Amino acid sequence: MESTAAPRPAPDVGDTLVDWFAGAARDLPWRRPGVDAWAVLVSEVMLQQTPVARVEPVWREWVALWPAPAALAAASPAEVIRAWGKLGYPRRALRLRETAAALVERHGGTVPADVAALEALPGVGTYTARAVACFGHGTPQPVVDTNVRRVVARLVHGRAEAGTARASDLRDVAALAPADPGRAVRFSVAVMELGALVCVAGTPRCTACPVTGACAWVRAGRPPHEGPPRRVQRFAGTDRQVRGRLLDVLRAADGPVEAARLEEAWDDAAQRSRCLDSLLVDGLLEQLPDGRFTLPA
Ligand code: ADE
Repeated sequence: MESTAAPRPAPDVGDTLVDWFAGAARDLPWRRPGVDAWAVLVSEVMLQQTPVARVEPVWREWVALWPAPAALAAASPAEVIRAWGKLGYPRRALRLRETAAALVERHGGTVPADVAALEALPGVGTYTARAVACFGHGTPQPVVDTNVRRVVARLVHGRAEAGTARASDLRDVAALAPADPGRAVRFSVAVMELGALVCVAGTPRCTACPVTGACAWVRAGRPPHEGPPRRVQRFAGTDRQVRGRLLDVLRAADGPVEAARLEEAWDDAAQRSRCLDSLLVDGLLEQLPDGRFTLPA
């Protein structure tokens, strides 16, 4: 509803963003020429919940170790969990390995360019499928992550922050893209970059924004966010931290470890035990008949 009611930004917003990106883009390794769709897929999965600086070294190691889906599919769970290092949300490592196996089975070890085929892969959702089609294969697609939804909320709808994801986000972004296919591909990464560097959460840097003159939120006088405050995720003391500590012990060890070694990783026995159970359920750890713990073979 509101997309028809809201004032539309000027039609050249997309081109303006592409031109801005040419000068403002960060030089990130997965954006360089010659990076194939597989390496792009790996980068997008890593980047979903982890900042660029932490992803960069791990991504380099992964694409060197496993330059194609068949290589990752042949690796053991223990190897991929170890190589995931401290990126966090380590189930992503196991899921990427499953994605690789499905690519081998269904697509001869190649990464398809078709969004529907990509979305049918385990662990590949709306965002990742379009990012891979667009940045990995050069097919124009609206690529909508949290940053892009915030840009759309402000630029198109005049709201301070994005609400929950909605199907119209894809249409809103597609409507801003330039007609030229090459520029439309660069537009998709440009709008992500604007959200990451300029149109940031909280207090955006509107004086540095190339499309501030077309922004519905600026035109409306930058009204404050009306909904509940954005939740900032706590890390210290959470199960996520404890799971990370437990996995660190296993990653650092040469082989299986005694339960006593894991007790040193976290004092609170109830929380430690709950986290250990959840790692076992997730397939990130295994317990041997003698009671010791190990990364899954
Ligand atoms: N370039 C392409 N996709 C990206 C992402 N998810 N984060 C940062 N830069 C990117």
